[in-house]
Amino acid sequence: MESREKVLVLDFGGQYNQLIARRVRELNVYCELLPCDVSIERIKGLNPKGIIFTGGPSSVYEENAPVPDERIFTLNVPVLGICYGSQLIAKLTGGSVKRAPKREYGKSDIEYSDGMLFKGMTGKSVCWMSHTDYIDKLPKDFKITAKTDTCPVAAYENVSKGLYGVQFHPEVAHTKKGTKILKNFLYNVCKVKGDWTMSNFAKESIEKIKEKVGDKRVLLALSGGVDSAVAAALMHEAVGKNLVCIFVDHGLLRKNEAQEVVRVFKDERNMNLIAVDASDRFLSKLRGVSDPERKRKIIGEEFIKVFEDESRKIGKVDYLVQGTIYPDVIESGKGHSATIKSHHNVGGLPDVVDFKEIIEPLRDLFKDEVRKVGFELGLPKEIVMRQPFPGPGLAIRIIGEVTEEKIKILQDADFIYREEIAKASYDDKIWQYFAVLTSSRTVGVMGDERTYHYTLALRAVTSVDGMTADWARIPFEVLEKISNRIVNEVKGINRVVYDITSKPPATIEWE
Ligand code: XMP
Repeated sequence: MESREKVLVLDFGGQYNQLIARRVRELNVYCELLPCDVSIERIKGLNPKGIIFTGGPSSVYEENAPVPDERIFTLNVPVLGICYGSQLIAKLTGGSVKRAPKREYGKSDIEYSDGMLFKGMTGKSVCWMSHTDYIDKLPKDFKITAKTDTCPVAAYENVSKGLYGVQFHPEVAHTKKGTKILKNFLYNVCKVKGDWTMSNFAKESIEKIKEKVGDKRVLLALSGGVDSAVAAALMHEAVGKNLVCIFVDHGLLRKNEAQEVVRVFKDERNMNLIAVDASDRFLSKLRGVSDPERKRKIIGEEFIKVFEDESRKIGKVDYLVQGTIYPDVIESGKGHSATIKSHHNVGGLPDVVDFKEIIEPLRDLFKDEVRKVGFELGLPKEIVMRQPFPGPGLAIRIIGEVTEEKIKILQDADFIYREEIAKASYDDKIWQYFAVLTSSRTVGVMGDERTYHYTLALRAVTSVDGMTADWARIPFEVLEKISNRIVNEVKGINRVVYDITSKPPATIEWE
């Protein structure tokens, strides 16, 4: 892997750090996000074509302000500093930074002058600023290459030393020519080839996996989610029938989802898929349980048990595949110990499966890259663009006790909701949307008859990562159609409400 052309992004704690890394990769350059105090030996070992210092919340003159190993400037590798990163380069090379007379936040008019970063774009433009400090004085051999009304050094360069800085954020979409600026740094300054494409990635990893696995046996837990689906398709290309996938259907998936997994992986791809219908097992364990955390625990434990039973039938395997992706393993912050999360959907499996080694084929990829690989491998849009779906499934979208009847009602209502959202072309705009079957029954009237049925809640949120979320402004006409269809077509529901709470203070799921 270390021969791969790459750029390093050193993390000084700013909020856009992953975004910088994703932008670089979108420009077909592989990059890794590392803590800002990563050792110089490690940097040398990675042999980067360029280094980017991110922004961060500190002031460079604070006592414990994060700094990199200064030998970084002697490696003959170009460095681009963004925001805090640009101030840091200026300070460490003899310039000065101070509190700006006016804090600059939001869109700013900027004027680019001639410089390596701004080739072909000199003149006025718009950029995204977010800073309280600014560079007051540059070392004498540096040249100012951009300014705004309130920021005299909005960008600079020292071509012979390979040092570049921008006070604004080129990675943010509000910076009009941000992509071009990053591209100039990568291609004109760092002279990258730009060989990072998902088709190259897929080809290379298939070759590498083939070489590693040979004719040994590989086991994978297929959940139907994007990561495990793409990992399965990739592994299958590499090792064919030596890959065994176990798909545990806990009976709490959305309508037709289990059949879809079997169709795509078994029928169409002829994969070695063991689909286990364990719905009865899960349902009986959940009987009488209404506490959300108990439900989660029961489902998690039962999942492991079913998997254990199935894998025992298969016997010893050589490799167990995990769908870990890059955001799960990024070592973040200021060089403190890595916070490595285990992949929650398969957490616990390694303890019950008899295997020699774990393979994580998607470990280097961001989510959008995983999706691109999925398309490269010919997986259908329904799987590749699937919205996040919680491991405990519909059990945490049925408030109170889970019964077979309630699962069926919720599946049917949720299906109509999804169908209408897709018809109205809102499915690409909303991050996650689903129906919740509440435990409230209310009175209604249908024809001449009084009804006493469940209230269904519709939830739809916009979000970037699920950590915070806003309720989606779905037009009333679309909501009206969904409500009408659900009440008319799904027996058991006579009232539909729309959830207009953001996260925080609410969560996305109801349980
Ligand atoms: P909340 O409800 O916490 O959800 O705002 C944030 C994101 O996490 C998903 N979620 C889960 N995923 N197991 C999972 O695998 C769970 O128990 C679980 N609970 C919530 C939720 O769908 C949303 O995307």
